[in-house]
Amino acid sequence: MNSFTIAIDGPAASGKGTLARRLADYYHLRLLDTGLTYRAVGHALLTHGLPLDNESAAETAARQVDLSNLDKHTLSAHAVADAASRVAVFPQVRKILVDKQRAFAAQPGGAVLDGRDIGTVVCPNADVKLYVTASAEVRAGRRLRDIESRGGHAELAEILADIVLRDARDTDRADSPLRPAADAHLLDTSEMSIEAAFLAAKSIIDVVMAKRSTA
Ligand code: C5P
Repeated sequence: MNSFTIAIDGPAASGKGTLARRLADYYHLRLLDTGLTYRAVGHALLTHGLPLDNESAAETAARQVDLSNLDKHTLSAHAVADAASRVAVFPQVRKILVDKQRAFAAQPGGAVLDGRDIGTVVCPNADVKLYVTASAEVRAGRRLRDIESRGGHAELAEILADIVLRDARDTDRADSPLRPAADAHLLDTSEMSIEAAFLAAKSIIDVVMAKRSTA
């Protein structure tokens, strides 16, 4: 197989990141968490004390994003996630980051990309598109367990409110709103373990790969 692209989209804390990592490991594909690119822009503005509605500063920061140097740990902070969803509404920021993401996807060997607009905008010709979702309550519960497992503390109601706000921002924006591509496979993980979600995704991907190799 010379090149195989898997596009994974879905709302915050849907489990798409974990699924993307498992699939990339299993199929030996490169992985790009595109959320980190928007987070890097938000983080740059926060670090320089610039307002998050400063579009030209956000554009400059977007140009400086280096895909080979995205520090997941620094970018995982709650304030950075919020900043990311604010700068993600600027069309020029999206254009700059989407160009970088497409260049990543176009390298030989294939890739898994996860985000909000991979199947619709970044890789509309992806071999497999998955749209991973779960109820806001389930997602908030997962996020809380994740925080607590790392020794942190948070309130479920606050996490839920944050998820609902970020969903609204991502779904309602004019440019590249969060929505499933017409040809995406929907995976509702509300009542699914990570393992079950992985197996469901794997069976979809294996069928497409088998068809490709006999074509
Ligand atoms: O996936 P993650 O939570 O890291 O994404 C942070 C924010 O970046 C999202 O809430 C969204 O606003 C934005 N984003 C986006 N398009 C993507 C990936 C992330 O707009 N492909």
